Amino acid sequence: MEYSKNLYLFAMKKLSLSLIILFLGMGAFAQVDRVDGLIPRPASVKKENGTYTLPASFTLSYGERPELKDMAERLAAQLRGVTGATIRVATPANASEIVLTLSNAAGTTAEGYRLNVNASGVAITASNPAGIFYGIQTLLQLLPPDVNGNTAQNIPWDIPYVEIEDHPRFGWRGLMLDVSRHFFTKEEVKRYIDDMVKYKFNVLHWHLTDDQGWRIEIKSYPKLTSVGAWRVNKTGTFGNFSKPEPNEPRDYGGFYTQDDIREIVQYAKERHVNILPEIDVPGHSLAAIAAYPELTCTPGKYEPSSGDRFMVWPGGGQHFYGLIDNSLCPAKEEVYVFLDKVFGEIAELFPFEYIHMGGDETARNFWDKSPLIKALMQKEKLKNLDEVQSYFVKRVEKIINAKGKKMIGWDEILQGGLAPNATVMSWRGMKHGIEAAKMGHEVIMTPTDFVYIDYMQSDRIMEPPVYASLRLKKVYQFDPVPNGVDNKLIKGGQANLWTEQIYTFRQVQYMTWPRAFAVAEVLWSPNKTRNWKEFVQRVESQFLRLDAAKTKYAPSMYDPEFKVTKKGTNQVEVTLINEVDGLDIHYSFDNSYPDEFYPKYTAPLLVPKDAFQLKVITYRDGKPIGRMIAMPVEELKKRAGVK
Ligand code: ACM
Repeated sequence: MEYSKNLYLFAMKKLSLSLIILFLGMGAFAQVDRVDGLIPRPASVKKENGTYTLPASFTLSYGERPELKDMAERLAAQLRGVTGATIRVATPANASEIVLTLSNAAGTTAEGYRLNVNASGVAITASNPAGIFYGIQTLLQLLPPDVNGNTAQNIPWDIPYVEIEDHPRFGWRGLMLDVSRHFFTKEEVKRYIDDMVKYKFNVLHWHLTDDQGWRIEIKSYPKLTSVGAWRVNKTGTFGNFSKPEPNEPRDYGGFYTQDDIREIVQYAKERHVNILPEIDVPGHSLAAIAAYPELTCTPGKYEPSSGDRFMVWPGGGQHFYGLIDNSLCPAKEEVYVFLDKVFGEIAELFPFEYIHMGGDETARNFWDKSPLIKALMQKEKLKNLDEVQSYFVKRVEKIINAKGKKMIGWDEILQGGLAPNATVMSWRGMKHGIEAAKMGHEVIMTPTDFVYIDYMQSDRIMEPPVYASLRLKKVYQFDPVPNGVDNKLIKGGQANLWTEQIYTFRQVQYMTWPRAFAVAEVLWSPNKTRNWKEFVQRVESQFLRLDAAKTKYAPSMYDPEFKVTKKGTNQVEVTLINEVDGLDIHYSFDNSYPDEFYPKYTAPLLVPKDAFQLKVITYRDGKPIGRMIAMPVEELKKRAGVK
């Protein structure tokens, strides 16, 4: 009884708290007009006075161009659903309220468009269907946020008058999704595509294989998915899980059939997204090895990793190594037969001109001891393991090129000599990308320090623990084209979402937004218009749209950063830094929950001798906006090096 009463009280408390949060949420974000709220910011915007309101019945026309038919129908379906309007989709352009015009005379770039909204309605013009598509995305952001919902709202469906001319800064605007460490369903991948295109991303890099699971059906090697797609389900902190016991079910996982892949590729194509498939070799291959152990230099019994520790990063400049062998063996011809078949099927399934072969973080300690590798080195005159790795990568490039595709690899493919036609994805900072561009190779910039969105977004006591932190403001400082580099070779950039610590699709969303807003803007908008303060306002404007779409996002930008210094022998001074301007920080050291009547942070705080925790919360205009943070004093001491 007591238990259920407590549960009831707890539920009521939770309910009233959610209501409070709901009301606060409605008023908390600074309201900016929708033109100023656009992400990514268009290349050129001319605001006009007035708004156009969609009538209860209207026509959406797309000229005589069949390429636009499906796009027009989808836009009409979305608008019907949320406005309840009667919408006629027609080809003639006269007397229509929304007009899509595809015409060479538009003179826009490959993905550019013009969008005009005035008293006669909405006109989107472009030379290419992709431009029309991006014009539609901008139009949707100019409509009320509820356009992202899924029920009809009886509100004025108004659109501000505006003249926009827009085009992207880079042709490669990517997001990478790791579906190996955790599996995400076909519907979730489609939802990810829906969300990315709203912000004009055009490449989905799909990390389909890794040590924890092989996620794509390969007809020539069925065990890749019957064995390699399944592992023990564990919850907690990845990398520290217990070893799978013999009696634990290997029932976590999944894979996409080739029909699923074709369906997703088509879905992406209709939304102007290219899918870059990644088959990560020769390292990160434990799932493949579990299925076909003969692919390693050290065949034995293997299974996909369930998240227990099997690699060691000793630090101090020492090379990492594997506790078990998760690398394919470059000295075995059957490995190249395998890769020929796998990349052959991949090339058939994915129309994109590139295939990614991974190439990162290959543990080579088992190669080092292998007589097969020694023999290969002698035969091919390879001086060291870098050259062995490079020999492997060059052979993979030949296979991929023979399938009519260009090869991309992570920047380790530079080690021991770059394959002749390879495109480099620079992740260990930008220096390897610069090196590759100087050698005349194409580059995609995805440096950990700016765009690894698997990293934590605020203080590590507030976020699921993972390797490092990367706040929104830092992401917004990303520039893929460093000084002194031939920028034609830098095709663009992308943010990478590794999913070791991401167990659900809600958390995929939380990690992606708002940091992918920053990436979208960096990759699309002119560099000279970048402005952090205005960007924050645009982010808040977009939060309303994510709310309407029921998309989860991180409020971490409202959490202050904690900096500590040691004072004297045993005291800690704490400096709190807000990422967003105009927030007040209130705090307590007495374990109670601070509100706006508590002391306001104005200068570094000396932690009282006996204090147990520092609680802080940010307010804006008298309303809480950040999360309640309970920072243990022990933690502050540890960070400051105080005993
Ligand atoms: C990587 O993050 N290992 C490419």
